Amino acid sequence: MTKKKTRVGFIGGGAISRTHMQYLSKMDDVELVAVADISEKAVEQCSKEFGFSNCFRDYRELLKIKDIQAVTVGTPNHAHHQPTIDALNAGKDVLVEKPMAMTAEQAQEMVQAARKRRRLLVIGFQYRFSPVARMLKRGIDQGFFGNILYARCQTLRRRGIPNWGVFGRKDRQGGGPLIDIGVHMIEVAHYLMGAPKPIAAYGSTYTYLGNTPSDTVSPWPHWDYKTYTVEDLAVGLVRFANGATLSVEASFAAHIGKGEFTFTLMGEKAGGQFDPPMMFTDEAGTMVNLIPDYLPNDDPFGYKMRHFIECVQTRAPSEAPGEHGLLVQQILSGIYRSAETGREVRIG
Ligand SMILES: NC(=O)c1ccc[n+]([C@@H]2O[C@H](COP(=O)([O-])OP(=O)(O)OC[C@H]3O[C@@H](n4cnc5c(N)ncnc54)[C@H](O)[C@@H]3O)[C@@H](O)[C@H]2O)c1
Repeated sequence: MTKKKTRVGFIGGGAISRTHMQYLSKMDDVELVAVADISEKAVEQCSKEFGFSNCFRDYRELLKIKDIQAVTVGTPNHAHHQPTIDALNAGKDVLVEKPMAMTAEQAQEMVQAARKRRRLLVIGFQYRFSPVARMLKRGIDQGFFGNILYARCQTLRRRGIPNWGVFGRKDRQGGGPLIDIGVHMIEVAHYLMGAPKPIAAYGSTYTYLGNTPSDTVSPWPHWDYKTYTVEDLAVGLVRFANGATLSVEASFAAHIGKGEFTFTLMGEKAGGQFDPPMMFTDEAGTMVNLIPDYLPNDDPFGYKMRHFIECVQTRAPSEAPGEHGLLVQQILSGIYRSAETGREVRIG
């Protein structure tokens, strides 16, 4: 007997949606059914690459197809909230890309819609599935680190202002490097800390380069400086209900020696970091740094896509649930609110 295929639709046909399609098209038990994108060009490209027979400019048409069980949302951040809620209300399980929304209020509504409709809401976080994160998670579960007190997250580009898409527009993205790339290291560090509840945030954002004519030193020159309304650099500090703290530094442009894409966890008994993978502790009366001799070459994005399909098929809870996305969104929104008001803000 042949296994029934999971039928998937795609809201958005840009870069990340086509990555979703690439992974899912290789799975025997998945059928790519429909794509919807406001851009005719994007729809045509997806159709050419993946042979869709159902192509729409309005995602609500896609949601009318009854036997689509699962939908991925790969639109810019401003178009995560409503399409996700509409898809959940149409009875679909949803994988929505990171960050799940532009604000914590939107994220809350998305989580509520999923609960009400008893559908899966999975967030497109993949770094928690990386071999390094799994190494650190094993250590945490075995009590190697003791209580995690502090996480330092750094997603710093010396010069890397996106010159495509709408990544420089606050009205479309909700912010700049903090919400776009900071979210990656925050989601995994926060997950490893046990997904604590954020209660207060303090932060600052600065815009000084992206809103000026593009320089020639950037590897991605000619960004649209006239519509650039997001920060170049964000820094923030967040306190959790369990007493732990997280800090973040995120930039599209910063005058630093080199970029960083990492986090460091500091526990009572040991510490660990993402890049390069390492753990720190005291052993045999000496401070030692532990470098893994081997880590599997697993593809976290591939795991994220397969995991979504398996959750749809088995109804198992996701390892990247909407509830985690909401807590991460509260961290992001808290830092942005603090930057706007110049004060520490309470969360929740
Ligand atoms: N998980 C990751 O590592 C990762 C990597 C890249 C991007 N992303 C996320 O994916 C999202 C999209 O990024 P991208 O790089 O693919 O951008 P993109 O600009 O390449 O694609 C976005 C597409 O959405 C379409 N679109 C806009 N509004 C729409 C709407 N209302 N209905 C249907 N289609 C609409 C656009 O026409 C475009 O084709 C962002 O939220 C980004 O943060 C995640």
